Amino acid sequence: MTQAEPDNVPSGPTLADSPLLAAWVAARDRHSPFTIPGHKRRAGAWGADLGALLDGDVPLYGGLDTVKQEAGRLAAAEAAAAHLWGADWLRFSVGGSTHGNQAVALAVGRPGDKVLVARNAHRSTLLGLVFAGLRPIWLPVGADPTFGINTGISPATLREAIADHPDAVAVLLTEPSYSGVTSDLPALIDLAHGPGLAVIVDQAWGAHFGFADGYPQHAIALGADAMVLSVHKTLIGYSQACLVAARLDRLAADRLDRAFEAGHTTSPAGTILVSIDASRALLAGPGPSLMAELREVVTSARAVLRSVPGVTVPDPDDFPPGRFDPAKLIVQVAGAGVDGIDVERDLAAHGYPVEMADRDTVVPIVTMLDPAAEVDRLVEALVQAIRNAPAAGSRSVTTHQWSPGRQIVDPRTAFFAEQTAVAWREAVGRVCAEVVAPYPPGVPALVPGELIEADTLHTLRTLAAQGTRVAYAADPSLNTFRVLLDGHADTLAHHRR
Ligand SMILES: Cc1ncc(COP(=O)(O)O)c(C=O)c1O
Repeated sequence: MTQAEPDNVPSGPTLADSPLLAAWVAARDRHSPFTIPGHKRRAGAWGADLGALLDGDVPLYGGLDTVKQEAGRLAAAEAAAAHLWGADWLRFSVGGSTHGNQAVALAVGRPGDKVLVARNAHRSTLLGLVFAGLRPIWLPVGADPTFGINTGISPATLREAIADHPDAVAVLLTEPSYSGVTSDLPALIDLAHGPGLAVIVDQAWGAHFGFADGYPQHAIALGADAMVLSVHKTLIGYSQACLVAARLDRLAADRLDRAFEAGHTTSPAGTILVSIDASRALLAGPGPSLMAELREVVTSARAVLRSVPGVTVPDPDDFPPGRFDPAKLIVQVAGAGVDGIDVERDLAAHGYPVEMADRDTVVPIVTMLDPAAEVDRLVEALVQAIRNAPAAGSRSVTTHQWSPGRQIVDPRTAFFAEQTAVAWREAVGRVCAEVVAPYPPGVPALVPGELIEADTLHTLRTLAAQGTRVAYAADPSLNTFRVLLDGHADTLAHHRR
């Protein structure tokens, strides 16, 4: 099936709006670069497809700018973005929010420091804790009983954690959750700032927040100390495009720079960087009006989907104002008695692969680049797929919450500790050595250093059997799990005291 051309894109960002794009065009048209990358944009000699793949690959160094960065083009583009998002410090990353989250983890404390971390944190944050040697105090995440989706961290939860851990140095939040819901961020930020804790927000799914009516505000505008955006998720970034923005009241610029550079490639793809500048230009130009249209398009899609018996679709009105992404389409099919994985397969067969599906829920990602007519077709296909799927009795949505377990040793200690694989039943009650997460959304169910609970293993194995992708497990069959060697955990925990 051919993709329809976007018909709702007015005058997009122009070259004048995106200086990095102009630099990319100039670099692409220059020939004989005696710099890397080694393909020299000549690999098309071995095939047009290979040529098309590599011709756009303009590096930052010796491409968008000289190797010595004499024109300061990247710095100027980052400054323009800092201005737009109201940040004191801002960097473009080609390593996704994975790199962004790990960079901020390296910037907030010292090895052994405690951080208060929302238990819906992405795997990248968890590995950031491993890199930085931070000790997580997990904050349990609330769930909405009707929709079975995360509602975020309540102020009461954070207040209690701060009181119990007055030595914590920062709060790490994931906002919005994969389901598009945000916590009461102003309240959380106020609570954390009182005793001087920095607030870091993984806003990977909310790169578009803060620029149009009806959308949640972005974290920096709400007073957070840093936020990490996946520019490639909901804006027009090339895959891996990310930006990290910070205010410098509680974080230091030189430390942020060092932390950022630690894990960033020394050969960034100019192409990805340009797409971040173009995203900034889009938001400063036609973005807000495109987002207003997107909101309407998704509102209509919800209305059609909600008319299918048993189907529920959360709406911004189901949450307090400004706490739900109006562009998020979470289609819950449990009430219709069908299996979301069947719906996903049917949709894929009709040319509509979706971002996420499990037994109860189907999540197509709709962005401001999706023409209304194309979204209408998706909705038609979705309704049809729900009708085609074999139906059993209506059921309620199952909430998969990964409640904080008992953290016996910190994730870094567990990561490097001696480990072994044991049969899944024997893993219960042992200290976990690996990260295991249903993907998407990539929220770890098993965390290195945590005591493994029977419920978690049952749920993971059930999800996998139902067709959810359970990622990163050392044994993808989930028949064995990696745990710390018996006795080793006790010794490590003892040494930590
Ligand atoms: C909440 C969250 N944070 C971070 C990431 C990592 O983002 P990226 O794929 O840009 O590295 C993801 C990816 O899905 C995510 O869902």
